[in-house]
Amino acid sequence: MSHAAGRQAPRQLHLNINILHSGFVPSAWRLPEADPQAFIDVGHYVRVAQIAEDCGVQALAIHGRTRAAMYRGDAEHETVRAIKQSVGIPVFANGDIDSPLRAREILAVTGCDGIMIGRAAQGRPWIFDEVNFFLRTGKLREELAREKVRDIIRAHLEDLYDFYGDETGVRVARKHLSWYFRQHHGQEALRDRLMRIETPQEQLATLLEQYDTRVCRAA
Ligand SMILES: Cc1cc2nc3c(=O)[nH]c(=O)nc-3n(C[C@H](O)[C@H](O)[C@H](O)COP(=O)(O)O)c2cc1C
Repeated sequence: MSHAAGRQAPRQLHLNINILHSGFVPSAWRLPEADPQAFIDVGHYVRVAQIAEDCGVQALAIHGRTRAAMYRGDAEHETVRAIKQSVGIPVFANGDIDSPLRAREILAVTGCDGIMIGRAAQGRPWIFDEVNFFLRTGKLREELAREKVRDIIRAHLEDLYDFYGDETGVRVARKHLSWYFRQHHGQEALRDRLMRIETPQEQLATLLEQYDTRVCRAA
């Protein structure tokens, strides 16, 4: 079905429709773009969403993007709103949501039932708490203390080692450490050192030893 839909897909708005299908098995439709010069027809995506609903799809998470912007820049939240209004199943808005304020704005603009956050949660998994707190209270939560961040990273690394095993765990941890350290300016030397370590024990020990003296004190 996605292929047939893709034949009619106009250019510019490239819309991923992530489908949470019956039984909560997630799947994704990436609608191929046809004629790059064709005019975007929002109705096309509305029709696809309605077909998905008719097929028994239980919820949609939609990331609207302009192809012309090479999938960067603001997502097409107005289009998401049109889709939300056309179906009865829950719709989640996705794309460029990186703060509690942005979350509230997107919920208002799209009228969606919820949001999905991707990249902004990398190295900042507590963003979900921050958003929920803001939506519930209207107040911005204080920045997490560095000690709390350290404990979150520690628990995260331990889970990664458990889940992936030592060798892969250390490598996967490097990626997350690099995201965590995006918010620790001036700590590039420590980050780089952590990237080169080969064992879980040394990676975790180095993080814990150095984090308190370098990162917590610098805060
Ligand atoms: C590195 C990366 C990989 C992604 N992989 C997939 C994927 O496999 N399937 C999918 O449907 N979306 C994928 N996406 C899109 C995300 O699910 C999400 O729609 C997109 O990042 C926009 O949300 P955000 O601005 O909150 O990150 C990927 C995004 C990134 C940055």
